[in-house]
Amino acid sequence: MKKVFVIHGPNLNLLGKREPEIYGGSSLDDINERISREAEKIGIECEFFQSNIEGELVDIVQKAGGKADGIIINPAGYSHTSVALHDALKTIDIPRVEVHLSNIFAREEFRRASLTASVCTGSISGLGVEGYLLALRYISNRLVRSQ
Ligand code: DQA
Repeated sequence: MKKVFVIHGPNLNLLGKREPEIYGGSSLDDINERISREAEKIGIECEFFQSNIEGELVDIVQKAGGKADGIIINPAGYSHTSVALHDALKTIDIPRVEVHLSNIFAREEFRRASLTASVCTGSISGLGVEGYLLALRYISNRLVRSQ
């Protein structure tokens, strides 16, 4: 079975409690549960990660290079700052989709640029939890096409 790493960055462990008017009321466990259910339907195995630490996220992306067929990543605040995550994502060539729950282009100026999106296959921003499900569908379709 094809495997997708779902990687959540800093502060996303607080989802549900953290600015629910922006990020919604679902907890990270709720979101992972919805992704898991979708994955089950389409025959993909997901492995979930969350870290508040930049270097740990780099390690997970590097690990994905050898162990996963695709990546869904919400680098959260590190999207806007992390050259290290940019470099890590650049070294792997599996499909990888950046997801943001909120529309980063409709928020503060500093959120409008993502250092990590430019080294992903594509990105989804502002569609809430649906963004993760769409990313999963995309990766699944792409993996089927390349078989
Ligand atoms: C976020 C947007 C980022 O700007 C922010 O730092 C986050 C969450 C999102 O999912 O909308 O932590 O990545």
